[in-house]
Amino acid sequence: MRSGHITLSQRAARDRLLSKWGHTFQKEPIDLQEVFGRQGPFVLEIGFGMGETTAVMASEHLDWNILAIDVYRPGIGALLGKIDKLGLGNIRIVEWDAVDVLEYMIQPETLDAVHIYFPDPWPKKRHHKRRLIQPPFIELLISRLRRTGIVHLATDWPEYAQQMLEVCSAAPALLNTSADGFSPRPSWRPLTKFESRGMRLGHPVADLIFQKR
Ligand SMILES: C[S@@+](CC[C@H](N)C(=O)[O-])C[C@H]1O[C@@H](n2cnc3c(N)ncnc32)[C@H](O)[C@@H]1O
Repeated sequence: MRSGHITLSQRAARDRLLSKWGHTFQKEPIDLQEVFGRQGPFVLEIGFGMGETTAVMASEHLDWNILAIDVYRPGIGALLGKIDKLGLGNIRIVEWDAVDVLEYMIQPETLDAVHIYFPDPWPKKRHHKRRLIQPPFIELLISRLRRTGIVHLATDWPEYAQQMLEVCSAAPALLNTSADGFSPRPSWRPLTKFESRGMRLGHPVADLIFQKR
C-alpha cells in the first residue's frame, strides 16, 4: 500500500465509506453485475490518483459502472469524499494492486473499457521495468475486455507514449482507432491533476485509444 500524507478528511472518508463503496480484494472472480447491481457498461480505471477524473466521468456518464483501482490511501479517501458529496452510485473502489485485481477478480471478456491515465512514468532507465504498460500486462488486459472494448491510455512522457504505442500496436488483438498513432484528448476525458502539472512544465500530452478486434 502506498501511504503519503493523508488529511483528516481523507482519512475520515476512507474509514467511513470504504466498506460502502469499496470491494475487498479477493483471489476469486467477481460478478460485475452483482457488484454494481445492474448491467454494464463496465469501465475499469487503473491508478485514479486523487479521483478527479473518475468523479467527473461518473457524474457525466451515469450509465457507466466504474471499477476504480489504486493503492494510494489519500486518493482513496479523496475519491470516497467526492462520491459522497456528489451522491454518485456508479463507482466501486478496490484498494489493491491492479495487476492482481485484473488477474484474479476480473473475468475474461467482461470489460467495456479500461482507462489508464498518466501512469507512473518511471523516467530512469533502470526503472523502466516497473512501468505498467508492458506486453504481458497488455495481454492480460486484452483478455479481460469484451470484443470492441476500448483501451484508453494517456501520458505526458513522450518516451513512455512511444513505448505504449509500440506495445499496443504489436498486440494483434488491438486496433488503433487513430490513423496518426496518437489521438487528440477526447472531450469526455477531463484534464487530470498530473496532466495539468505536466502541461505547466511544457510536457506534450498523448492519448492512445485502441479497440479490441
Ligand atoms: C502518476 S499517478 C496518476 C493519477 C491520475 N490518473 C492522474 O492522472 O492524476 C499514478 C497512480 O497510479 C497508481 N498506481 C501505480 N501503480 C499501480 C498499481 N499497480 N495498481 C494500482 N494503482 C497503481 C498510483 O498509486 C498513482 O495514484
